[in-house]
Amino acid sequence: MPTVLITGASRGIGRASAVTLAAQGWEVLAGVRDPLAAPSGTQAERVDMADPESIAALARRLRGRGQSLDALVNNAGVYEQARRLIWDVNVLGPLRLTLALEELLAPGARVVMVTSGLGSLSAQPPELVRRLRAPGLSLDDLHGMAREAPGGYGASKAALTAMARVFANRLRARGILVNAISPGWVSTDMGGANAPRSVQQGAASVLWGVHLPMGGPSGGCFEDGLPME
Ligand SMILES: NC(=O)c1ccc[n+]([C@@H]2O[C@H](COP(=O)([O-])OP(=O)(O)OC[C@H]3O[C@@H](n4cnc5c(N)ncnc54)[C@H](OP(=O)(O)O)[C@@H]3O)[C@@H](O)[C@H]2O)c1
Repeated sequence: MPTVLITGASRGIGRASAVTLAAQGWEVLAGVRDPLAAPSGTQAERVDMADPESIAALARRLRGRGQSLDALVNNAGVYEQARRLIWDVNVLGPLRLTLALEELLAPGARVVMVTSGLGSLSAQPPELVRRLRAPGLSLDDLHGMAREAPGGYGASKAALTAMARVFANRLRARGILVNAISPGWVSTDMGGANAPRSVQQGAASVLWGVHLPMGGPSGGCFEDGLPME
């Protein structure tokens, strides 16, 4: 049975993704702040993505029981919050978690960074675009940028999209596919009631990145399986 860890599995797109994969026969580790919020049919794994020690503790637990992961979905995110929290949860969290778990990723595993259309480079200030497009952009660069928090939600997602590219290069030799995927504008607590897409549609876009065939794309940015800028 393949195993996936999904953060932000308590609500919204993460929860729908977790429920769908569990129904498809995956062992689902539901990354949640409150273990009681994990969907049934999944195993709750407590993690606060804003807290480096909580992320390290999760990695220690998984390593301790020899857990191997066939997929990792960095889905947890915040929108209308203080800049510091936005960059902690949306950027530093996925960076720390993916680094902490990279040795547990099975050869050929899939990693999804759940990004947003609001993170498209055309919507970012030129200085941020220049930094994110710099050849040789590294995880250290992204870490430093996240400490600065240069912008709000859109900028954080632009950084997350760039991070997918950096991890894709880093993990390519092991056949691991890493992509940034937008769910579209989805009706969740975050997306609001006016959003045109259902949670299932958002989850399907995200899960495309989990179900990629071997040799599929890596380092890209997609929505509904179609490349985005
Ligand atoms: N909805 C949209 O239209 C839309 C569009 C583009 C991208 N996205 C992205 O899609 C992802 C899921 O969004 P959503 O709409 O499903 O949002 P949501 O309904 O607001 O759910 C957010 C999820 O993130 C978790 N989370 C927040 N802060 C956390 C932290 N510090 N540690 C661990 N988990 C934390 C929440 O857990 P708790 O229950 O513990 O708070 C919840 O499970 C996000 O990355 C978001 O940026 C959404």
